[in-house]
Amino acid sequence: MTEQPHILLVDPAHFDVSYVINPWMKPGAWAADPAGQAVRARAGFAALCGALESAGARVDIIPGVEGLPDMVFPANAAVVLNRRALVARFARPERQGEEAAYAAALQDFAARGVLDEVATFPEGCFQEGAGDAIWDAGRALFWAGYGQRSVLAATDHVASFFGKRVVRLELATDRFYHLDTCFCPLSGGEVLYYAPAFTAEALARIHAEVPPELRLEASAEDAAAFCVNAVNLGRTVVMARAPAHVRGLLAGRGYEVVEVDLDPFILSGGGAYCMTLRLDRGQP
Ligand code: ARG
Repeated sequence: MTEQPHILLVDPAHFDVSYVINPWMKPGAWAADPAGQAVRARAGFAALCGALESAGARVDIIPGVEGLPDMVFPANAAVVLNRRALVARFARPERQGEEAAYAAALQDFAARGVLDEVATFPEGCFQEGAGDAIWDAGRALFWAGYGQRSVLAATDHVASFFGKRVVRLELATDRFYHLDTCFCPLSGGEVLYYAPAFTAEALARIHAEVPPELRLEASAEDAAAFCVNAVNLGRTVVMARAPAHVRGLLAGRGYEVVEVDLDPFILSGGGAYCMTLRLDRGQP
């Protein structure tokens, strides 16, 4: 594996908010000022890109596809580990067209020698990529969300395809519909998470893996600002505009919080992590 984080982003030229498939989505707010929102989206995207590069990442930007506005959230494209990609199967018809587009993009990365293999989940086995399968490098396991967009059976497929341990976390609410909206493992072993998003059994599983001193509990305000949906690179944590609570939690553990204005993307129910896909994760 390369030392440098390698992150895929999707150009926001075709991004808008035109349908509702999660409770955060506000097509009315977008439609009130589409040109202004598009300008703000482009600025937010550029700022995110700059923040990731400043934190040491190599960033690759691929074009989006007209009519697939949520393609700007490539965290949902695939689960990638050890140069092998498992392309997502989207639960919502509005996003199913993204599967072929992401598969083609990932095949391109394979042709360029970045990936060795691009595979798919079995038919009907819904799984929305790294948004619901988060690699925890320190623990060498996947945290896998299910119950909203991804199905429980998909977590078995992730485990067997990658040959890694998977901790299955059932998501209890439609507001926190992908694991990455409410759960973020950090490089120092801490886990930033929003407890009310999980079933009691899922919380017990988190507690079994993460000792109390490493648990960082986000507030309702932090979670609603999409600040649990963060990209952690070393000691840097890149996120949407952050409430004081989450900034304090992370500063207290020695992390540098970098805030980016991602408001237009939050109108679609996505933040910083959703807008990225790590291509370099894994272990030799
Ligand atoms: N509007 C998109 C959806 O509902 C947002 C996806 C955000 N991505 C994420 N990984 N949480 O699917």
